[in-house]
Amino acid sequence: MSSIKQATYTHGYHDSSVRLHEWRTVANSAAYIIPYLKPDLKILDVGCGPGTITIDMASTYATQGHVTGLEYSAEVVERARKHASESEVSNVTFLAGDAHALPFPDGTFDITHAHQVLVHIADPVLALKEMRRVTKPGGIVASRESDWGSFVWYPESPEMTQWSELYLRVARGNGGEPDGGRRLKAWAHRAGYDTSKITCSAGTWLFSTPEERAFWGNIWAERITKSDFAKGAAMHGATEEELKRMSEAWKKWAADEDGWFSLLHGEMIYRV
Ligand SMILES: C[S@@+](CC[C@H](N)C(=O)[O-])C[C@H]1O[C@@H](n2cnc3c(N)ncnc32)[C@H](O)[C@@H]1O
Repeated sequence: MSSIKQATYTHGYHDSSVRLHEWRTVANSAAYIIPYLKPDLKILDVGCGPGTITIDMASTYATQGHVTGLEYSAEVVERARKHASESEVSNVTFLAGDAHALPFPDGTFDITHAHQVLVHIADPVLALKEMRRVTKPGGIVASRESDWGSFVWYPESPEMTQWSELYLRVARGNGGEPDGGRRLKAWAHRAGYDTSKITCSAGTWLFSTPEERAFWGNIWAERITKSDFAKGAAMHGATEEELKRMSEAWKKWAADEDGWFSLLHGEMIYRV
């Protein structure tokens, strides 16, 4: 592991966090790179979490190539390896490592990808430099980052507003930048990327059907009281009682048939 000062990962690795990561596929979280995915590519997925996007890339798209997932938490790397072996996908490898110091020679990969990682780390500009370094000339760097300020929901409640404001304080206190989506181009520019080779788009997530609301709402109801977010929130002055009320507000939102929650991600493709 590198000696670079790390941000604290706001969500931690409670089941309520990892469960949300395990729902992810290329189609629901990385559709903007589908036009670039070909069977024989060598791909790196930086900050791959439990690896469901990584495994989907290997089993559905880079079927004659190879996908490597790199993740900071060794515990989550084990979970990703278990998923790969359960799904009998063999053209994928997982290893522990740091996005700030990628353990690969220059020009190793055709595609270097990250999903919802730069918002959580101490130095997204350094990570983007590393992602470009390990990508072959002619390859692409692809990143998709959520943007907290774009989160909108209905019905509103004082507790959910309080939760959102608290989240921003906790995540920034941990060293991350939750409004990363809108900053992707600026981070790339600071990393020395040639802006004429950047293509941007914005991708949404929407949770509105009963199943979607139950999934998203229950994850947040649990994260607020049980994940590392609860510890960070306590450090920022939130009481257990307040956190319980926010958690209840999420359950109420999930049960409301008018419920809506949408959010934007910034997406960037860089042609190396
Ligand atoms: C929101 S999750 C996204 C996981 C995965 N990309 C996905 O979308 O399912 C962020 C992941 O980045 C990892 N992470 C945080 N800091 C990192 C670093 N410095 N290097 C590599 N991974 C890191 C976290 O451990 C976590 O698994």
